Amino acid sequence: MRCLKVIIVYYTFGGETRKEAKRLAAELGVGTTLYEVREKKERSVLGSLFKGCYQAMRRKSSDIRTVSVNLGDYDRIIIGAPIWAEHPAPAFNAIVDHLPAGKEVELYFCSGSSGSETSKQGTIEMIEKKGCKVVSYRDVLTGKGLVKEKRTF
Ligand SMILES: Cc1cc2nc3c(=O)[nH]c(=O)nc-3n(C[C@H](O)[C@H](O)[C@H](O)COP(=O)(O)O)c2cc1C
Repeated sequence: MRCLKVIIVYYTFGGETRKEAKRLAAELGVGTTLYEVREKKERSVLGSLFKGCYQAMRRKSSDIRTVSVNLGDYDRIIIGAPIWAEHPAPAFNAIVDHLPAGKEVELYFCSGSSGSETSKQGTIEMIEKKGCKVVSYRDVLTGKGLVKEKRTF
């Protein structure tokens, strides 16, 4: 019997989304591919706060380095990204651009404290427009002293 191929594809600015990706990979076990998407141009903190938040709120994709994995090869695709201005960071939109149709997709978003409630519906619709289905949606709160996870489904 063939093993399910799982990939966690994520972008991180400060490392929290990577930490969660690694935790998940350890939970899922061997055979899980971890793939970190990097932007072509290294962002500064100011660049993320101004241009980055503007792009995030408008659902703009940032320029990312060539993706060297074919998401079509995976049975289970998990996407992780930080939340900027209550929206997924622009590299998330670039990851969605690479999604092949017909996939079931799991999402998790790392935010300090706000979660992603205000952008959730639009994010799910973006994935559906690619012909994919969101089967899991989680907010991971990374601020100190907070409930760590909120699972929508
Ligand atoms: C540009 C920018 C905007 C942010 N906007 C929000 C926000 O709207 N709500 C929130 O709770 N946290 C916000 N944060 C905090 C991050 O979402 C949070 O620290 C997250 O865990 C970072 O993930 P990362 O370390 O993988 O980049 C923002 C951080 C940055 C850099």
